[in-house]
This record gives sequence, C-alpha cells and structure tokens, in this order.
Amino acid sequence: MADPILRWAGGKRQIIDDIVTRLPPSRDYNDYYEPFFGGGAVFFELKPSNAFINDINETLMDFYELFKNNLDYIIRENKKLDDALNRYSTLDAKKEFYYTRRREFNELQNGCCEDELREAVLFLFLNRTCFNGLYRTNEKGDFNVPMKKKVILTESIEEKLKEGHKVLQNAEITSQDFEYIEEEVEEGDLIFLDPPYISNSDARYFNQYSTGGFGRDRQIDVRDLALKLHHRGAYVMITNSDEAEDLYRSDGEFMENFRMMELEAARSINSDSSQRSQIGATDIIVTNSPQFWEQREFDAYR
Ligand SMILES: C[S@@+](CC[C@H](N)C(=O)[O-])C[C@H]1O[C@@H](n2cnc3c(N)ncnc32)[C@H](O)[C@@H]1O
Repeated sequence: MADPILRWAGGKRQIIDDIVTRLPPSRDYNDYYEPFFGGGAVFFELKPSNAFINDINETLMDFYELFKNNLDYIIRENKKLDDALNRYSTLDAKKEFYYTRRREFNELQNGCCEDELREAVLFLFLNRTCFNGLYRTNEKGDFNVPMKKKVILTESIEEKLKEGHKVLQNAEITSQDFEYIEEEVEEGDLIFLDPPYISNSDARYFNQYSTGGFGRDRQIDVRDLALKLHHRGAYVMITNSDEAEDLYRSDGEFMENFRMMELEAARSINSDSSQRSQIGATDIIVTNSPQFWEQREFDAYR
C-alpha cells in the first residue's frame, strides 16, 4: 500500500480497509478506473498496474501530471518551503509566509507568468498547510482556504512522495466529467465511484469542491452509469452517504444487481474533517461484486 499524497475532503483513507476487502483481488480485474479521484486513497492502496484516474478539478489533476513527471524537483522545492516555514517561530510570521505563498499561487493560476512546476510545488505546500486540506476557490477562481490553526511540518514526506510517484507511473491522468468512462470501460475492469456525497440537508455541501454543485440528478447519473457498467461485465463499487440509500433503492433493476452495506463506524471517524461533521452521515458501500453477496453484512442490510 501507499499513502495518498494529498489531503482531500471526503478522502477514503480512514475507511480504506472496509473498502478494499470488498473489492475483487487484482488478479481478477483488468483496468482500474477512478473517475472521482480527489486524494485517490483507494488507488494508492491498490497500486493497480493499469489505471485511469480522473477528477473534474483541473488544478488537482494538473498537479498529479506534473508530479508524475517531476518527482525530484518537487521533492527538493517542497523541502525548501518546509524549511523556510519552520524557521519562523511565531504564528503570525508563519501566517504571513502562508498567505504570501497563497497569493503567489493565485497569481500563477491567473496567468501572471508561466511556471507550472512552481504552481505544482505551491499546490502541494498549500494542501499540507491549509485548513483541513480543503480546496475551495472564490468566484474569481482564487484559492481562498485559510491556514491550518497550527502548522507543524517536522515530518518529511519524501518517502511518501516517492512511493506515490511509483504508483502514478501506471496511471493515465485526465480531468473531465466522470461520465466519459462510459465509452472506455470494458468487461472485467474495476470501477471505484466516490462522488461528492449526497446531502439532502446541507446546502453548504454543494460548494465543497467548487465544481458548481453535484445535485440529485448527478447522483442518479452515477447510479445509472454503475448499472450500465455492470451489464458490460465490470466490477463496480460506489461509496456515498446513507442519504443516497433511497435514491439507489428507487431503481428496482439496480437493486437486483447491487448490494448495499452500511459502515457503522463511519460517523465517529474523521473527526477533524469538515465533511463528516457537516453532513453528519453514515457511509454506505454499494457493489455488484458477486463474491461478496454471500457475506451476511450485505444480506442483512438488503
Ligand atoms: C468524495 S471526493 C473523492 C475522494 C477520494 N476518493 C479520496 O480518497 O480522496 C469527490 C471528488 O469528485 C470530484 N468531482 C465532483 N464532480 C465531478 C464530476 N462531475 N466529474 C468528476 N469528478 C467530479 C471532486 O472534485 C472531488 O475531488
């Protein structure tokens, strides 16, 4: 296994065992698709030998592409930023450093000058030092997340970066709407679908990824796509909040082919992430993988 390189809202690191033990073993599937990639916790855990990773967030996927091809530079420059920040002892001085880097990142994003590698380095640094690893932008598209309350960067992430870099060598990286995979997936492929969680109650949630929203209609698109890919002979898993349960249950054909289970522990984990505490939901895992249908956990929940 490898750790995700980035912190990401809705990241699946804390429930990774619950997920991977319910996926088919690598010898059983061909290509791996993760079209809502974010921090890619499942991808880094599985280390698939042929993967297609995608997220609508272009800045995020540009980062992975640059990281994939420029490991040494990014490690070196990231360390320089860590060292510079660590030299400041007061919170005010650290803040000043953080907000100057944030401004620089936004200027680069707005096309002040051409330096995509510097942009990638700053993206990684801001991700590590910002509040909750959130990526949120204002209407102008500027990254506007404040600094973590307490920044301590004593731990080197070099090994983690090297490990993640290896895994990324086997991935094709894109940034588009998730539905593109309908054209690509073939029989025997494995698809992990982790869309923005549905929330029937919290309007704030819709802005979490700055993608212009992921409402009920898009959740239905995910469900319908999962069913199509099932009929094509692919292994499919969806994770969501339990608020999506009715939406899945309302489609009889879907329910004939997929099983759902609830993760009891999900509510109490991830206590420092904005996501779970905001939407206050339990996770569900939904899968068509037949080898797991016999497990009592799925049957009980049916
Ligand atoms: C719950 S997060 C995925 C977290 C990921 N599994 C992890 O472990 O970090 C959902 C992701 O879907 C992305 N997203 C939102 N709308 C999308 C769309 N229409 N197509 C593709 N990705 C989308 C968001 O940018 C976000 O990164």
